[in-house]
Amino acid sequence: MHNPYKTYSERLEEIKKNDLLRSFKDIDNRQDKTITYKHKSCLNLSSNDYLGLATDAVLCKEFYSRMDKENMINEYGLGSSSSRLLTGNSGLYEALEKRFCEFYGSKAALVFNSGYHANIGIIPALAGKNDLILSDSLNHASIVDGIRLSKARCMIFQHNDMDQLRRLLEKEKNGFDNTLIITESIFSMDGDRADIKELVALKEKHNALLYVDEAHSAGVFGSHGRGLSFEAGVHDRVDILLGTMGKAFASHGAYAITHPTLKSCLVNTMRPLLYSTALPPVAVNWNLFILNRMQYWDDRRKQLSRVSEQFRNALTKKGLVHTGDTHIIPVITGSNKKAVELSDLLIENGYLAFPIRPPTVPENNSRIRFSLTSDISFEDIEPVADIIAQYMKNQGS
Ligand SMILES: Cc1ncc(COP(=O)(O)O)c(C=O)c1O
Repeated sequence: MHNPYKTYSERLEEIKKNDLLRSFKDIDNRQDKTITYKHKSCLNLSSNDYLGLATDAVLCKEFYSRMDKENMINEYGLGSSSSRLLTGNSGLYEALEKRFCEFYGSKAALVFNSGYHANIGIIPALAGKNDLILSDSLNHASIVDGIRLSKARCMIFQHNDMDQLRRLLEKEKNGFDNTLIITESIFSMDGDRADIKELVALKEKHNALLYVDEAHSAGVFGSHGRGLSFEAGVHDRVDILLGTMGKAFASHGAYAITHPTLKSCLVNTMRPLLYSTALPPVAVNWNLFILNRMQYWDDRRKQLSRVSEQFRNALTKKGLVHTGDTHIIPVITGSNKKAVELSDLLIENGYLAFPIRPPTVPENNSRIRFSLTSDISFEDIEPVADIIAQYMKNQGS
């Protein structure tokens, strides 16, 4: 008799054989910069809480201290009950979008349930079958999925290769209605940056649209944490500037800074916005609370930049290969097995850093991805470079 589960067992066996098996982590007790993994307290080097706000108990207490019987449901409630197009909308959502407009000096902002939702919704809403998408080869899975859901023709340019992008624009764009260029600002797995100024120049020269996913730079770069496009002085020329709130904003959700016409188009046609329950009031309220304070955390941004540079220098001194120049610091191992072994060794020594393997990164490009947070000091992580160097030496690499 046919066993439909056999297909999946075989698939899992194959994954296991290639050292690619994933599982949920036994995580407990996140406190400041430490976290308990498999009952062992470790320094957390795998968090996207870049400013250390999600584990800041004082901040959390301040937020909840405002809760009373009168505002409990409308401002701290745990269920929004429906999509924003029905009864899930609220004055808090409107206030948050207004505050984002003030923060960026823009005319329109739109909040979403998550960065993943935003990417799989905005891209198909803006690019259809007569349009062209030009996408960086290292763009995040949520962008890739958004492109797959759109009916647009997609061409991939090599990572950060502006010459190839220019050639594609010159050669291809006339065959299509609109052209949408999509990039991340800080690349999530490589920790390097897009050349936003050049991207803006190219999109303007060719009358294209530019979509910049600032998931890893929102809250971290630019004055007051307004991101890399803001730092480059071109944020108002980016058509969709997407920030996520699950990382430096210590929360959940995402926002687009955009033009009012594009906002209206998204409100009318973006399926994850139309057909999914809105964020709970407590999450929207916390997002507003964080956004109102974002300007005051420049010291945390400076510390993050300082410790990232110190750690990178320590890796370089040991001859270790790492990419980029930001707080996301990947140390390349190549093989999946080495990435897993090295992660285990680091954890044994009290440093929590997980292996990143295909399909998240290309084949033979496995790595340990360190993502630093502003509450970590160089003294905390100084021994890490030694541990890695020793492991690599033992491996003969
Ligand atoms: C570049 C990028 N975009 C989007 C997302 C998805 O964001 P969210 O976690 O809010 O769904 C991520 C998540 O890691 C990301 O790295």
